[in-house]
Amino acid sequence: MEVVLQKMKPTEARLPLLIIGLTEEVKSDSSEMMLTGPLARLAESVMELGDFKGAKGDAALVYSLGRVNTERVLYVGFGKKTELTAERVRETLGEAARRARDLGVEAVGISLTHLQRGGLSPNDAAEAAVESFIMGSFKDPYHKTQGLDKFKQVKELHLLSPYSDEELENGAHQGQVLGEAVNMCRRLSWGPANHVTPGKLAEEALGLRELGVKVEVLEREDAERVGLKSFLAVARGTSEPPKFIIMEYGDPGKDTVALIGKAITFDTGGISLKAREGMELMKTDMTGGAAVISVMKAVAQLKLPLHVVGLVPATDNMPDGKAYHPGDVVDTYAGITVEVISTDAEGRMILNDALAYAARNYKPKAMFDFATLTGAMQVALGEHAIGYFANDDAVAERIQAASHTSGEMVWRMPLWDIYDEQLKSDVADWKHTGGSPGGAITAARFLSKFVGDTPWAHFDIAGLMEQKTDKGYNPKGSKGPAVRLILDVLRNW
Ligand code: BES
Ligand code: MN
Ligand code: ZN
Repeated sequence: MEVVLQKMKPTEARLPLLIIGLTEEVKSDSSEMMLTGPLARLAESVMELGDFKGAKGDAALVYSLGRVNTERVLYVGFGKKTELTAERVRETLGEAARRARDLGVEAVGISLTHLQRGGLSPNDAAEAAVESFIMGSFKDPYHKTQGLDKFKQVKELHLLSPYSDEELENGAHQGQVLGEAVNMCRRLSWGPANHVTPGKLAEEALGLRELGVKVEVLEREDAERVGLKSFLAVARGTSEPPKFIIMEYGDPGKDTVALIGKAITFDTGGISLKAREGMELMKTDMTGGAAVISVMKAVAQLKLPLHVVGLVPATDNMPDGKAYHPGDVVDTYAGITVEVISTDAEGRMILNDALAYAARNYKPKAMFDFATLTGAMQVALGEHAIGYFANDDAVAERIQAASHTSGEMVWRMPLWDIYDEQLKSDVADWKHTGGSPGGAITAARFLSKFVGDTPWAHFDIAGLMEQKTDKGYNPKGSKGPAVRLILDVLRNW
């Protein structure tokens, strides 16, 4: 999608569709409309009919039939002016974006000044508008060969403002990069396991070289040489070649932040085989890895002044004659031995090596991992919020601040060491699972053994693998979780 800044008033626009957001206050105070002439009269007439009140979720599509230059106007309601935050703008325009896409129009205008009623800066308004429009109108045909006409995308997004300045331009650029990063994560995440293989993820990462990202892909033999034994234990059972993907952006003299993403391209559970119902959703068990690759792309596009390292251990988890067994004792990159209880707790087996590898080789200022790790987290927080664990309060504060700006909801979970009692093993240093009580917490405790004293946070995104129905800026499919959240941590570093 091309984003165009237009220095003009909404009345001057000549477009197939113009989106104007209004707050509830327009009912009693017509100056709140910030419109004059026929655009104002159109809005007044739908309000007189009672079809539009400016309430949150209200929408009225009006055909101008020549009364204004623009062919259609979509009035959308933001709710109360005091509630007009960036997130409200995103939710509202995300919905409007789908409406625009389904109308099949090629170009859409958004009146930016109308987004700033609640006090948003031009930068934040432009960013929220562009990112939510890109996210909300996302629709990928994936592998469809028929009915492709239904997948027509809006080609041009015009931001209308009486002023044009650097702030607007910067906001629009950031919004575009962020929105596209989310869509990239969604595409990879929702792609089927026979297409989105470890090799495909490696290819996507290698594609970032043209943006100045250094990329190295460790093959099975390389991983053996390096000693990524816990990662390889999971990869033993698959004939699809595993890849341990290493990405690096920026000057190593700057602060180093490491991002680690679980990329199980399909999780059958291995020998501890999962139940058959719903197993197809386990194609999304690489969402953490997809998020990290997408974030690396955005970091390079935005040229963030940081040294960012992205590690993505990628493999299928399959039952096979060579697969690892429950009861196996597995060595790790960190040298800690692990007693395998369930081969379905494979995420922590690949993550422990990646965490230890990042801590030892890059000594990062902070390290973040993203994983669809436990059904227990899905049960605890449901599908809306990401549960995270942090061994450092300053890191947790950065996450809370990023949650506030990105609108991605997070909840800090406890990392109390008493939970280690469930991980005691008679034959190895630790068992890798602790039974069902507090299953998300014991998983995080297990990972914590591999980070040394690096400030670290672990994000369990298991509840956010799927968006079940179109809502706000999340269309049905993959949410592309954590992408904007991490990017806000990095942009605010
Ligand atoms: N990928 C799953 C976690 C998961 C389950 C994500 C359901 C989304 C929905 C993970 O590899 C897994 O299987 N975890 C097990 C751990 C258990 C064996 C300790 C789980 O949560 O059941
Ligand atoms: Mn599993
Ligand atoms: Zn898994």
